[in-house]
Amino acid sequence: MSRSLVLAIETSCDETAVAVLQAPRQILASEIASQIDLHKQYGGVVPEVASRNHLPRIRPLIEVALQGAGFSLPNIDCLAATRGPGLLTSLLVGYSAAKGLAIGLGKPFIGVNHLEGHLLSPFLPGPDGPSPSVGLIVSGGHTMLVRLTAVGRYQLLGRSLDDAAGEAFDKVAKLLELSYPGGPEIDRLAKQGNPKKFDLPRSMLKSGDFNFSFSGLKTAVRYLLPKLQGDFQADLCASFQEAVVDILVQKTIRAAKISGVDLVTVSGGVSANSRLRSKMTEATGAAGLDLKLARPSLSTDNAAMIAYAALERYQLGDRSDLSEDADPNLKLV
Ligand code: KG4
Ligand code: ZN
Repeated sequence: MSRSLVLAIETSCDETAVAVLQAPRQILASEIASQIDLHKQYGGVVPEVASRNHLPRIRPLIEVALQGAGFSLPNIDCLAATRGPGLLTSLLVGYSAAKGLAIGLGKPFIGVNHLEGHLLSPFLPGPDGPSPSVGLIVSGGHTMLVRLTAVGRYQLLGRSLDDAAGEAFDKVAKLLELSYPGGPEIDRLAKQGNPKKFDLPRSMLKSGDFNFSFSGLKTAVRYLLPKLQGDFQADLCASFQEAVVDILVQKTIRAAKISGVDLVTVSGGVSANSRLRSKMTEATGAAGLDLKLARPSLSTDNAAMIAYAALERYQLGDRSDLSEDADPNLKLV
């Protein structure tokens, strides 16, 4: 029996991405056309600009992905696309394209929750599929701790009550007049800074639950800035990053211990952060927990994770109804 092939499209925000995945977890192609340079001049993503620019990219990218994978459209067993959450006008481009292909080819279609894509991405391309774990999803739009029992069986343990972790990185970077997106810039500058130089708040660290709050930290940076002189940027980046990472790591370890799981996973754009990766590695090691970090190339938005979530669903017999619309506020749990 041939191994199932999924072609997936991701257009929830400003990356146009297409991937081809072969069961069980082999990424045959993962193409990403970034629009970062287009949005940089505005200091953030402009939805109208994003959706307009997905359109001319989507078809050539599908062709490049298929060529790279060494297959053609009739070989594909299942078409998939991100259904939400995200920017509606951006989602619609990839979602409609994948649906159209599914109808034209007479193949099944699966609409994928972007957050499920992130949550399952640490298992890609690895030897083993999803197993009971606590997953930290840290992206530009979401910060969540999720208990995974099996594919499709998720329990929300906690989430950010205000800004997402990536949003905090981007907003603090803007205060420091760094270019968009700010996360990678802060990560880079922090490497030359002293993380203990500024004593910044670790909100809700002792709240006793698994929720997060990052807006107070951002405000603390805003009030501190006018008082600083000279070359403080690297120290401030390091101190801010350390505060975010401390909160994320400590809450995740506690959530894993209370949930009684042996495995922690970390995914989403902020999981590319070098300090988060090293501190989470240290802390899980010390706590006797296993750790799976999404690969850096699968941390930020990509279609391979969407294809993988779709493949797991496909193998469970799930199929999406073609009358189902994209949903900018789609919930994971
Ligand atoms: O998952 P993602 O690509 O898009 C969303 O689903 O939101 O995450 C994007 C976020 C941005 O806020 C970006 O600044 C952040 O991930 N990010 C980072 C790093 N790389 C990307 N934050 C901190 N350190 C990084 N190295
Ligand atoms: Zn994302």
